[in-house]
Amino acid sequence: MEVAINKDHVILTLDTTGSSLFKRGYRVEKGTAPLKENLAAALILLTNWHKDMPFWDPFCGSGTLPIEAALIGRNLAPGFNRDFAFEQFGFMDSQIIENERDRADDLADYDTPLEIHASDIDGSMIEIAKTNAREVGLTQDIQFKQVAIADFKTDLTGGVMVANPPYGERMSEQEQVHQLYRQMGKAFAPLTDWSKYIITSDLDFENTTVKKLLRNVNYIMEL
Ligand SMILES: C[S@@+](CC[C@H](N)C(=O)[O-])C[C@H]1O[C@@H](n2cnc3c(N)ncnc32)[C@H](O)[C@@H]1O
Repeated sequence: MEVAINKDHVILTLDTTGSSLFKRGYRVEKGTAPLKENLAAALILLTNWHKDMPFWDPFCGSGTLPIEAALIGRNLAPGFNRDFAFEQFGFMDSQIIENERDRADDLADYDTPLEIHASDIDGSMIEIAKTNAREVGLTQDIQFKQVAIADFKTDLTGGVMVANPPYGERMSEQEQVHQLYRQMGKAFAPLTDWSKYIITSDLDFENTTVKKLLRNVNYIMEL
């Protein structure tokens, strides 16, 4: 609780949440440049993905996008794996909290088979992503694989790709990144019936040479 006193005004501020709301409680480890969990979920909801379609994040890092996709696919409440500060309030009826948690659990769909894939070139990131998925009980729902985008292949059809590839902030990294975009272009070319969404903070992604290198992408979200 915070108390602020200004002349004869006293303001009591009660934190009912605890750690920030974007935290779902499953991220025990993070890699470089992880997406916030709520942002990842919002981006997935902007795509045309539905739980009966394949989902693939080929740059999964700590696994935020595939884990959020699995939470959406399982219809699990985003906060079900975390605690909230108000749960410790003495005046809070713990039965109400328990009932709400039970209600959220009743709404979960554990039956629909999910086809969610997560890959990354870095084996240590795959281990981190698996640890995070285990934390939220979703290891069975996501298929993890260490694979470079240059070697990416799938026979699955009609899926949705949501990718958050690395981007070069320094000039020295630009050629490396453009080579990566060329590899993405080649890897994605056979996936003609897939929707592909790329998330990047590279503001030139759409306008520069990249556009020529990376054809066949449905949407580019610049953050
Ligand atoms: C911006 S991070 C993704 C972060 C992720 N969305 C998260 O929330 O943790 C980019 C990821 O791309 C991976 N990566 C870099 N080059 C790659 C390549 N050639 N093929 C596949 N993955 C690659 C990196 O290992 C890194 O985990």
